[in-house]
Amino acid sequence: MKKIIQQLLPFIKNYKKHVVLNIVFNLLYALFSTLAFVSLIPMLNVLFDRTQKVTKEPVWNGIGGLKDYANDLLNYKVSSLLENDNAQMALLIVVALVIFTFFLKNLFGYLSMQHVMYLKNGVLTDLRKDMYKHIIELPISFYSKRKKGDIMARILGDIGEMQNSFFIILELIIREPLSIVFSLIVMFSMSWQLSIFVLLFIPISGFLISSIGKRLKRQSLQTQQEAGRLISTVEETLSGLKIIKSYNAEQAFKKRFLKSADKILNLINKIGVKNNLAGPMSEFLGIITIAILLWYGGKLVLIEKVIEGTTFIGFMALAYGILTPAKAISKASYRVKNGIAAADRVFEILKQEDSMPDLKNATELSGFNKVIELKNISFKYENEFVLKDFSLKVKKGETVALVGQSGSGKSTIANLLTRFYDVNEGSISIDGKDIKHITKTSLRSQIGLVTQDSILFNNSIRNNLKIGSENATEDQMIEALKIANAWEFIKDLPEGIDTNIGDSGNSLSGGQKQRLSIARAVLKNSPIMVLDEATSALDTESEQLVQVALENMMKNRTSIVIAHRLSTIQNADFIVVMKQGKIIEQGKHQELLDKKGMYHKLVLLQSLD
Ligand SMILES: Nc1ncnc2c1ncn2[C@@H]1O[C@H](COP(=O)(O)OP(=O)(O)OP(=O)(O)O)[C@@H](O)[C@H]1O
Ligand SMILES: [Mg+2]
Repeated sequence: MKKIIQQLLPFIKNYKKHVVLNIVFNLLYALFSTLAFVSLIPMLNVLFDRTQKVTKEPVWNGIGGLKDYANDLLNYKVSSLLENDNAQMALLIVVALVIFTFFLKNLFGYLSMQHVMYLKNGVLTDLRKDMYKHIIELPISFYSKRKKGDIMARILGDIGEMQNSFFIILELIIREPLSIVFSLIVMFSMSWQLSIFVLLFIPISGFLISSIGKRLKRQSLQTQQEAGRLISTVEETLSGLKIIKSYNAEQAFKKRFLKSADKILNLINKIGVKNNLAGPMSEFLGIITIAILLWYGGKLVLIEKVIEGTTFIGFMALAYGILTPAKAISKASYRVKNGIAAADRVFEILKQEDSMPDLKNATELSGFNKVIELKNISFKYENEFVLKDFSLKVKKGETVALVGQSGSGKSTIANLLTRFYDVNEGSISIDGKDIKHITKTSLRSQIGLVTQDSILFNNSIRNNLKIGSENATEDQMIEALKIANAWEFIKDLPEGIDTNIGDSGNSLSGGQKQRLSIARAVLKNSPIMVLDEATSALDTESEQLVQVALENMMKNRTSIVIAHRLSTIQNADFIVVMKQGKIIEQGKHQELLDKKGMYHKLVLLQSLD
C-alpha cells in the first residue's frame, strides 16, 4: 500500500491545487455534516417545547465562547418569539437553520467531489499516457514472451479498475475520518457514557468485516490476469480469423474464450459476494449498536434523567451519522484491495526498465560513408546460438545478399543491424563506430528496413507512407511509389493515395503490400537498406513487379538483401550463403555457380519450380 502511494505520488504532484481544495472542502463538509445533525436539536426543542428560556441577549466574548454564544443567541431569539405566542415563526427559524446547514454540507460535499474527480481523472489519464510512452519505448525483446492481450488489459482494464476503486481512498482518507472525529467531539460533549458505546462498536465491526476481505486482493489479481488472457484470445481471433475459419477451428477458440469468460465469472462472483456482504453486514451491526444505544440511552433519559430527550435524539442522529462513514470506509477497504492489485500490474510495466538503453556517452551517427562491419558476432535469443562467429563487411554502395535455408539466421542479422537485439559476442560497427555506442534513433535513421512480413497500419496509403517521412510532399510520395512499382495499382484505386488499406493492409494483395512497404522505405531515403524479402511465393507477375521494385531501390544505395528468390540477387556484388548461423560459401553469382556447392543446389531447386 505504502509502495503504491509512493509510486503514485509523482503523478499526484501535478494536481496539487485539486488536492488542497479537496482537503479544504472535505474539512468544511465534515464540519457541516456534524452541524447538520446538531441543528436538528433546536427544532426538536421547539416541537416538544423544551427550548431553554433565555431572556437576556447574549454578549459576544471571543471565539472561545462561540458554541455558547450561538446556542444562547438562538435560544434567545426563539424564546422571545415563543413568549409572544409566535410559535410558527420560531419553528420557521429552526427549520431554516436545518435547511441552511444541510445545504452547506451538500454544497461542500459536491465541491470536494468535484476536485477529487479532476485529480483522479487527471492522474489516470497521465498514467495511461505514460504507460503507452513506456510500452512503445521498451525493446522488442521485452515482448517476445508476453501476450499482447495482457499488456492491453493493463492499459485499459487495470487503469479502469484503479479509477473505480483505488481512488476512492482519496475521498475517504480525509472526509470520512474527519466526519467521524467532528461527530465524536460533539457526541462526547453531549454524553460521554453513550459515546463510549459507539466507540466500542467501530473496532468490533471493523474486525468482523476485514476478516472476510483477506483473500480479496489475490482473487482480484487472478481476475485481471484472466482478463488479459481473454483479450489475447479476442485479439488473436480477430487477426487470425481467416486461418481459424479455414481450419474450422472456431470450436477450439470458442472453447478457449468461454473457459476464460467462465473463470472470470467465477472470480468476479466470489469477489462480488464479499463486496455485497460488506454493506448489509455493517448496516446490521450498526442497527444493533443503535438498539443497544436506545436501550442504554433511554435509561439515562427516563430514569437517571442526565440528558434531555431531545439531545438524546440529536445524539442518536449523530451516532447513526458516523456509522455511514464507518460503513463507507469498510466498504472501500474491499475495493481498495482490487485497486492495489490493478495498480501493481500497471506499475510493473511502468517500472520495467529498458534492457538496452542508449549509453550515456552514445554519439549521433550523422551519415554513412565507408563500411558496415560485422566482426565475429555470436548471438542467441534464448539458449542456443543462432549466429556463430559470423563476420561480414559491406562497403558503401555495395549490394550484399544473404541466402540460405530457413532458420539459418538471416532475419536475425537484420534484427541485429537495427539493434532490436544486441549481439552476445563480437561487434557490429558502421564507419568504425560500434553501434552500441551510437544512439538508437540516429542508427535507425540511417537504415531503411523492409521486414519479412509487410507491416502496415489500418490507415490511408498516404499515412502509411508518412511513417517513412513525416514531411514528404505528394510528389515525393508518388515518386517513391513509382520506384517501388506500386504507383501502377494505387493510381487506379478510387481514392488513390488516400485509400484506406484495412487492418494490417489486408485489403491489398500480398505483392501490393510488399511494394507499399518498399515504397515506405524508399521514401525514408536512408543510405543503408535492409531488405528482408518475403518468403510467401508470389505469382510470376507480381514477383517480377516486386523484383523491379527491389532493383530500383537498390540503385545508388548500400543494401543488405535477404533473398529467397535467387533471381533477385544475380547482380549482387557479393552473395553470402548461410547455414545454421555460419557462412558456408561466399562470392559472386557466377563464382558460386561454378563452385557447384550449396548455392548451386539452391539455384537448381528454384529453377525446377
Ligand atoms: N524472437 C525469437 N525468439 C527466439 N528464437 C527466435 C526468435 N526469432 C528467431 N528465432 C530463432 O532463431 C533462428 C533463426 O531465425 P531467423 O528468423 O533469423 O531465420 P531466417 O534465416 O530468417 O529464416 P527464414 O528464411 O525462414 O526467414 C531460428 O531457429 C528461430 O527459431
Ligand atoms: Mg527470415
